[in-house]
Amino acid sequence: MAKRLEVTYRVYEDGTALAHAAAKHFAERVAQSVEKRGRARIAISGGSTPKATFALLADPAQPYGKNIPWDKVELFWVDERTVGPDDPDSNYRMTRENLLSKVAPNPDKVHRIEGELDPEEAAAKYETVIRREFRLEGAEVPRFDVVWLGMGDDGHTASLFPHTEGIHELGRIAFANHVPQKDTWRITLSAPVINEALEVVFLIGGDDKAAPLERVLYGEYDPAETPSQLIQPKNGSLLFLLDTKAAAKLPKPGADHAGHVELAR
Ligand code: 6PG
Repeated sequence: MAKRLEVTYRVYEDGTALAHAAAKHFAERVAQSVEKRGRARIAISGGSTPKATFALLADPAQPYGKNIPWDKVELFWVDERTVGPDDPDSNYRMTRENLLSKVAPNPDKVHRIEGELDPEEAAAKYETVIRREFRLEGAEVPRFDVVWLGMGDDGHTASLFPHTEGIHELGRIAFANHVPQKDTWRITLSAPVINEALEVVFLIGGDDKAAPLERVLYGEYDPAETPSQLIQPKNGSLLFLLDTKAAAKLPKPGADHAGHVELAR
């Protein structure tokens, strides 16, 4: 019996409106998690899309970040490039420059993936950190409060790229994935870990994402070709925050700027 997954997408006028919506949602979800559990365990992605949202969260003139109890945020990365923390390609560096250098997280609760290490070593160390922080035993899977994802124009998410081994990884929490199309290695959370989250939010903007996004939501289920289709939270919610360009091929949202898709997977 196919599992049916309710997906909500919310569409915003442009990149700026999208970034504001994402910052608002980030702040709301942190507040909810802290209220319920005394802390917020968040996994964030890199790339370029989150930059504007991080900048808004860090901006004291904006209403979002200043009410976030940053000392109660436990920050993890969804993935990292195999570079050091000061490399222009580093997801950690992007986050440090746009957010972490401007707010006051507990440094013991900011869990950078050490991309400068051998990929397998970096992945193993990161998995050990996650097991420690979540107090996992045996085959337990960490449950993040929110996992923030982006999506590439090839339909990848995290560092789960089309036709790479990482798509099939089911046992490890974090692992090194060889990405031949980029001639590189990446360290990434596995799809089952992302799917364990209480909420998964895709933050996607730009017209180059319209076609892959349509494939993700309405195309044939083919995760090897479109790895973002792997993301089906087991017991959590799945939300897409989009700008009009990325949503161009989706059914027009309702008056509340939201659309709903029921995925049979
Ligand atoms: C990374 C990200 C990756 C990203 C997508 C979208 O390390 O690059 O984690 O999965 O979310 O590639 O990237 P853009 O936001 O730059 O389009």
